[in-house]
Amino acid sequence: MQARVVPLEEGKDPAVVNKTNQFRALPLRLFQLFGLFLALCIAFSLISIYSVRRFGVQSVVTTVKSSFVACPELPNGLDYWINPPSNLMHSMSDKELFWRASFVPRVKEYPFKRVPKIAFMFLTKGPLPLGPLWEKFFKGHEGLYSIYVHSLPTFENKFPSSSVFYNRQIPSQISEWGKMSMCDAERRLLANALLDISNEWFILVSESCIPLYNFSLIYHYIKKSKHSFMGSFDDPGPYGRGRYNANMAPVVNITQWRKGSQWFEINRRLAVNIVEDTTYYPKFAEFCRPPCYVDEHYFPTMLSIQIPNLLANRSSTWVDWSRGGAHPATFGRADITEEFFKKVYGGQHCKYNNQPSTVCFLFGRKFAPSALQPLMNISSKVLGF
Ligand SMILES: *[C@@H]1O[C@H](CO)[C@@H](O)[C@H](O)[C@H]1NC(C)=O
Ligand SMILES: *[C@@H]1O[C@H](CO)[C@@H](O)[C@H](O)[C@H]1NC(C)=O
Ligand SMILES: *[C@@H]1O[C@H](CO)[C@@H](O)[C@H](O)[C@H]1NC(C)=O
Ligand SMILES: *[C@@H]1O[C@H](CO)[C@@H](O)[C@H](O)[C@H]1NC(C)=O
Repeated sequence: MQARVVPLEEGKDPAVVNKTNQFRALPLRLFQLFGLFLALCIAFSLISIYSVRRFGVQSVVTTVKSSFVACPELPNGLDYWINPPSNLMHSMSDKELFWRASFVPRVKEYPFKRVPKIAFMFLTKGPLPLGPLWEKFFKGHEGLYSIYVHSLPTFENKFPSSSVFYNRQIPSQISEWGKMSMCDAERRLLANALLDISNEWFILVSESCIPLYNFSLIYHYIKKSKHSFMGSFDDPGPYGRGRYNANMAPVVNITQWRKGSQWFEINRRLAVNIVEDTTYYPKFAEFCRPPCYVDEHYFPTMLSIQIPNLLANRSSTWVDWSRGGAHPATFGRADITEEFFKKVYGGQHCKYNNQPSTVCFLFGRKFAPSALQPLMNISSKVLGF
């Protein structure tokens, strides 16, 4: 039996033996190939990581495309949700932007240290001639404010990289004074500013506005206020109720119709109300046409219906209508004196948190470009910055 067993073992089919040897040799070559492949992969990854670190996000896209990485880097930390967008330019349409901006967290406590900021929203036609005064105003208060500029799409502002206005333009579209597109621009500013979760208050200013106090005072005044500074009153005359169109009922009836200055300060909650609105917007777009000026009625009326108890019903922007006419007074070089500002500060009486106050207007308009030099000269003495 044994004799037969041995030959049987020895007498294995030579072909089989050869194959076995081949099988032994094959993994070795496979391993070699695999090792080479692995080395290449590691080298490639290292180069990728290096170039991403070195050249930033843009090259991530090309790297990801050229290699065959199955899982692109997904934002997996909190930072993605709480850091403001690094670039204000985006390709969202208004519809997409408003949808995105209307996101509101339902957990009210923030899981990080949130320093509330004021968003200064500059609604301008062209340049910002009083920019240097604002630069002076903002200096030293980094982290407590953010800036957004909406100018006519045809106009390109050129700010040096040292400027607080540098890269702060938002994508804009055509706006015309007195038409719905004015409110569209304001909503666009609000929506862009809402994308930064730390923006808590939103102030609309124009290129002719100036701050009347220093930053600290304005910040604390707004922070401590129980109300938002949206002008809103019931004007029974032809420029108030006279502009109401009965077709707006029942969404808006005449007793709910309000008027107020376009220049507002509102908190985040009100800003979301404005951006998410699809109820009042179509009514105003259709039935508030000149001589009904939508920017004087839409937000005051809507917010007075929705959350009247959060409104101060007065604007925080001073303006002089005493000269009469359809437009408020504009102040130029010759007007800028200490006497002038004594009058501006002296004439203030209002309610602040339901108490009488002599600080009512935080900003003033309208100031011509020629007012810049004298304003820079007296700002530390008169304006407090
Ligand atoms: C800001 O102005 C207020 C009142 O005018 C003043 O008391 C305060 O010291 C000023 N703050 C700074 C930082 O200049
Ligand atoms: C207007 O609306 C208010 C509140 O909804 C209501 O009390 C009032 O009767 C309405 N007035 C008219 C004229 O419809
Ligand atoms: C503002 O006016 C509304 C009515 O439109 C009122 O309910 C609210 O209390 C007023 N706000 C203040 C601070 O008086
Ligand atoms: C600056 O203001 C002071 C008064 O506050 C005035 O005497 C001086 O002429 C002004 N200088 C310029 C360059 O306007």
